[in-house]
Amino acid sequence: MARKNLPKYTVPSLTPEQGQEVARILQLRLTALNDLALTLKHIHWNVVGPHFIAVHEMLDPQVDAVRLMVDATAERIATLGVAPRGTPGVIVSERSWDDYSLGRATTIAHLGALDEVYQGVITDHRKAATDVEELDDVTNDLLIGHLHELELFHWFVRAHLESTGGSLSTAGESSEVGAADKAEEHAKKAS
Ligand SMILES: [Fe+2]
Repeated sequence: MARKNLPKYTVPSLTPEQGQEVARILQLRLTALNDLALTLKHIHWNVVGPHFIAVHEMLDPQVDAVRLMVDATAERIATLGVAPRGTPGVIVSERSWDDYSLGRATTIAHLGALDEVYQGVITDHRKAATDVEELDDVTNDLLIGHLHELELFHWFVRAHLESTGGSLSTAGESSEVGAADKAEEHAKKAS
């Protein structure tokens, strides 16, 4: 645990070291959620083809919800006595993943890639929720609250990629481009 830049105060019943550690975990979630909100808007602008309006309009409420999560996460960091960092440079330097890979592309290709995006964000959010479980119930509750919505949005995306038999066209893929290709291939075969 880093001792440098310890918060001068934190929430009652946590030590400054614990407050710092919870804030460190939250800072990475702030970066991930900021990245997600921007990526969702990028997709909103770049989808083309059949079901354009449905997907275009499905994404805006997700952007709004994720922006609220960004705000709550940053304010929790501040509440813990640490300065939240939300500038574009911090997003780029802190993230461990590449920029979203698709530009103008069909709705189904973007949804295939977005399945991978949500997969990554949710996996890391769940790990963060577990990591703070023993340290701070309030932060744990915040992250669990996010997961209720993030997992619902992930299902909205996956429902477009699901067959009547219940399997996903993106199954087995771990890259955005691979998932986008597979989703498109499947949609072509089905039409
Ligand atoms: Fe718009």
